[in-house]
Amino acid sequence: MTELDRTRIPQHVAIIMDGNGRWAMERGKDRSYGHQAGVETVKRITSECTRLGVKYLTLYTFSTENWSRPESEVAAIMGLIIEFLEEELFHKNNVRFRMVGEMDRLPGNVQEKIKGMMERTAYNTAMTMVVALSYSSRWELTRAAQHIATEVKEGTLAVNDITEDTISQHLETHFMPDPDLLIRTGGELRISNYLLWQIAYSELYFCDTYWPDFDEGDLHQAIASYQNRQRRFGKTEAQVEGEAYI
Ligand code: FPP
Repeated sequence: MTELDRTRIPQHVAIIMDGNGRWAMERGKDRSYGHQAGVETVKRITSECTRLGVKYLTLYTFSTENWSRPESEVAAIMGLIIEFLEEELFHKNNVRFRMVGEMDRLPGNVQEKIKGMMERTAYNTAMTMVVALSYSSRWELTRAAQHIATEVKEGTLAVNDITEDTISQHLETHFMPDPDLLIRTGGELRISNYLLWQIAYSELYFCDTYWPDFDEGDLHQAIASYQNRQRRFGKTEAQVEGEAYI
């Protein structure tokens, strides 16, 4: 596995877990079989991220647009989420569980499981795993605009006091820093309505590996690629290098 600089591990890794369907079809199986295999990858990658010292792992599990998939596939994914939330994984790895997305749209039994797991893991400290469910960035930004407009209308917020921070604070992800590294598996080169505001300065990493095949070695490669880049946040190379000596 690629050697990593343990002093420069990304604090927040976000992942678009793509390729479950194609992985299953190539094996002559149902797409849901690929999602099932994808859960095993989630477990492995969660443990490895905890071991490496990643503090936030955000997984794009079910997008708002995914509701239009065949009913049987949606039901299979919901079933897998329920099973997953019974896992020992969280306590074994000291992981706090959070969810972002439209909770109200999820089936009642999924909502209950989510709420229970969030309560039971609230005091775990090694890493926060955030599962994006019935989530889309445009939905999140629209809702934030509605909340901000309501506060202005009620007189609790002045228009001139609306800053970038105000927007960040009204997003589902208000409790965590922006992603340092965004990984997309499965070979597609797009963002698919995921964390659009939050990834303004994230490093992007795309790989062809289907999510069920993505392993610890692939994660190391993604982090090594991140570590080989210079993050400039709009500054020049000379400015950033100067800051390194301050
Ligand atoms: C994208 O692959 C994957 C999804 C839409 C679902 C991801 C779900 C899981 C990994 C299982 C549940 C996870 C948790 C955290 C419990 P795709 O189906 O779009 O693949 P394709 O592009 O090959 O069709």
